[in-house]
Amino acid sequence: MTKKYITTAIPYVNGAPHVGHAMDYLLADVYYRYNKKLGNETRFQAGTDEHGNKVFAKAKDSGLDVKEYADQNSQKFKDFIELLNVKPTDFIRTTDKDHERRCQEIWKKLGDHIYKDSYEGWYCEGCERFVTKKEVEENDGICPDHQKPYEKLSEENYYLRISDFKDEIVKKISNDELLILPEFRKKEMLALLEDTPDVSISRPRKNLTWGVPVPDDDSQVMYVWIDALSNYITVLGYPEKDISDFWPADVQFVGKDILRFHTIIWPAILLGLGLPLPKVICSHGMVLVDGQKMSKSIGNVVDPVEVIKKHGIDAFRYFFLRHIDNFADSDFTWEKFENAYNNELANDLGNLVQRLATLCKKNGIKYKPKEIAFSPAYIKAMDSFNFNDAFEHAWTHIQNLNKKIDEEKPWELAKNGETERLQKVLTELVDGILHANLELSPFIPDTTEKIENVFSGQEITPPETPLFPKER
Ligand code: MSP
Repeated sequence: MTKKYITTAIPYVNGAPHVGHAMDYLLADVYYRYNKKLGNETRFQAGTDEHGNKVFAKAKDSGLDVKEYADQNSQKFKDFIELLNVKPTDFIRTTDKDHERRCQEIWKKLGDHIYKDSYEGWYCEGCERFVTKKEVEENDGICPDHQKPYEKLSEENYYLRISDFKDEIVKKISNDELLILPEFRKKEMLALLEDTPDVSISRPRKNLTWGVPVPDDDSQVMYVWIDALSNYITVLGYPEKDISDFWPADVQFVGKDILRFHTIIWPAILLGLGLPLPKVICSHGMVLVDGQKMSKSIGNVVDPVEVIKKHGIDAFRYFFLRHIDNFADSDFTWEKFENAYNNELANDLGNLVQRLATLCKKNGIKYKPKEIAFSPAYIKAMDSFNFNDAFEHAWTHIQNLNKKIDEEKPWELAKNGETERLQKVLTELVDGILHANLELSPFIPDTTEKIENVFSGQEITPPETPLFPKER
């Protein structure tokens, strides 16, 4: 049996999940369900990133003990994942004791690739990073994301010697041994890599208390990246367990904003540990709302619970997997969502199921389910992580079935007593819908289960209530 490992970025627990956070989970879940259908033994990690000053400050603001605050928000992400009908096999929290211990062991294993140095430069507290002189000049000394002036800071840090691994990483990215998707981001990452200095991977304890202590140096605490990135392997039990059944990951899903950490720092850590690099890093775009970045200050943050309440989880999954681009930034608007629901889910799919099942029942069609498999075009799209294309492929099938009903007019065949032809046409239509249904199943699993029950049972009976009622 082929073994597969799929990962998602672990969100910070400094707030509640918004619709953008759904992307990692949905994309990973589609690939997970697809692999399960193929019979592959698949692990699927999710988790929460809980250390760092931002979480610490937010906890203070809300008057809670920081661990208590992290517990609450981590639970919100767990609940969110469940609400999305996503079922990871593993859930890791960076505050798990095992994770913290494993992180320290990883640090020690990196040995001479880590060194201590002092640094003076411009720092943004919001971004939790030093910025380049050029950035300070370009932004007139104020961070555009946080609207706060950069501060001049000098501190002692540990550094990861990226220069030890640069050539190897460039080689592996260039020859697609580490495949970066979408393709155009590969060039971007290679250019960035060239300019990347060694990266600072710790902070003095006085500036960062909420984190994993650096081994053998009480004055320093690990900065978020080693702590966060290592989750992908500590969750498998590294370093004390042999993880070679599942590592290297088959695909790691991340947003484009954190791609650079996953194509530079993460490979450097892995090479430093003597581990293979992931096979694919697939980066998705940002979900915008009415063309704008979601932000609390603009007040345009969309609450996924509200969207799901309106038309159910599969309508949510449908919209985010078909109409939000896999790779580029895309817009969520309520209007687009409502249109997709009414014209596509309710009309194209819901009506088709209702019409066809009613025709079959009325005409006493006896249907014997056949063996069905994914079509080559669908497999090609799925295997190259073009999930929008795979979804489109399955949906075109649905649209063609609607056309076929309109052209063949089974109700006229029944009226004219053309029983044999009627039987043939309806059987072909049911074959068609079950095939499309299989291909839709990683995307809208609850709905496809219902459709399967309608057509694969002893007798075909239309659903008692429409799959996608127009008004709720
Ligand atoms: N904690 C880091 C990730 C560490 S992974 C080792 C982080 N957290 S985050 O909460 O800011 O983001 C978590 C994931 O959600 C990232 O993949 C990020 O790209 C994604 N998104 C956050 N906002 C998003 C949108 N508006 N749209 C799409 N994805 C978004 O980064």
